[in-house]
Amino acid sequence: MILEEYIMKLKQDGKITAISKSVSKNLEIAGVLKTLEPKPVLFENVKESRFRVAGNLFCNKTQVADYFGITTEEIIPTLANAIENRSEPEQTSKAPCQEEVEDKVDLDILPILFHNEIDGGPYISSGVVVSSDPEYGQNLDFHRAMQIGRNRMVARVVSGRDFHRYLERNGEVDVAFCVGNTPEVLIAAATSVETGINELEIANALRPIRVTKAKTVDLMIPADCEFVLEGRVVLKERHAEGPFIDLTETVDVIRQEPIFEVKKITHRKSAIWQGLLPGRSEHKILMGMPREPTIFKKIKERGINVLDVYITPGGTSWLHVAVKIQKKNEDDGLQALEAAFAGHKSAKHIWVYDDDIDIYSDEEREWAMATRFQADVDLIMKDREPGSSLDPSAEPGTKLTTKCGFDCTRVIDAKGKGFAKAKFPEVDLKKYLGE
Ligand SMILES: Cc1cc2nc3c(=O)[nH]c(=O)nc-3n(C[C@H](O)[C@H](O)[C@H](O)COP(=O)(O)O)c2cc1C
Repeated sequence: MILEEYIMKLKQDGKITAISKSVSKNLEIAGVLKTLEPKPVLFENVKESRFRVAGNLFCNKTQVADYFGITTEEIIPTLANAIENRSEPEQTSKAPCQEEVEDKVDLDILPILFHNEIDGGPYISSGVVVSSDPEYGQNLDFHRAMQIGRNRMVARVVSGRDFHRYLERNGEVDVAFCVGNTPEVLIAAATSVETGINELEIANALRPIRVTKAKTVDLMIPADCEFVLEGRVVLKERHAEGPFIDLTETVDVIRQEPIFEVKKITHRKSAIWQGLLPGRSEHKILMGMPREPTIFKKIKERGINVLDVYITPGGTSWLHVAVKIQKKNEDDGLQALEAAFAGHKSAKHIWVYDDDIDIYSDEEREWAMATRFQADVDLIMKDREPGSSLDPSAEPGTKLTTKCGFDCTRVIDAKGKGFAKAKFPEVDLKKYLGE
């Protein structure tokens, strides 16, 4: 789907705040997005650019579910199904993202946002990077990129990502940074699947998309995205990248990272730039949610009746996981914890809950821990394992961390008080208060 069409639908339904006053791409847009979060915002008049900017579009599971016309509980099965049953997108030679082809590359025409005073420069934070390897084929990843000139950026490429592997194997790799995507492409790009799987086929299985050939590089790109920045990333040509706010909302260190030389800019005629606030909820949901089906699958493979998995925003949408199971055996909770850690190596703390707990409610999760958890039997601790590079408390360099799992499920054979929350009578208020 074209992002602008979705934004116009939000506008019709009164679900987006449209700002017609002139707003600067330098700090102001980020400030407004942060203040209005999670309300979607359309900036119709950007001081430094002829293009509009939209942000806060997919800040929580409800917004994502609404986009697909499903419930939040259906997100994991839908995504798991798309990962399993991938399908090839239709090809088109008339791609909206190539309606206009800029004669010369000038990144200054784009509303690349300067998000925060501490940032090293303006950053693309919503860019889906298409790359290719002669053996493995195409891959999609997210890589933030800091503008360092009119045609140059520096990209953050975490070691271990498929794109990093492609760079190590080939030295330099042609890329297309695609900005302005709808959730099928955004979510597919954020999945971590086997190297060699073309995530555009996951996107197509979520909802049919179209692809087109890029203008100057041999890549198939999402035809309906808003902007495409084509070019080349060279592993050994480096530049300082950062500081920048990472997923944990803390400031990432400055590193020497590979340069992205931009060779062509194409876009839709009425293209809208997609802003994505670093560290805030949209970044978090895109990072955590695509990992949930993997954890779900690992728990299911142990024969446990897992009902839902939620990588919680308070835990940076990466380090903390809440799992809901229907407990049948006394050790199901501990087994589920072990399986969940296997499904998400970056997780630091994982909780398992019964089916009567709303795992999307902070209060209910805490209640379950307060009333059902005993540390001497319900706690597992994994001392000094590699965790997430994002965790400021992990050992720098090695990522070593201590992981804990909390089994907050009730004992099946309860001896004392029961574990169920007592219910008050349900009444029809109209009977007492009138209409
Ligand atoms: C919004 C967003 C921004 C991200 N930024 C970066 C980044 O700057 N550098 C990076 O290496 N990974 C980044 N990631 C993570 C990876 O792109 C993501 O985990 C990737 O899908 C892993 O896929 P792979 O297994 O194909 O490498 C980001 C993810 C999201 C959702």
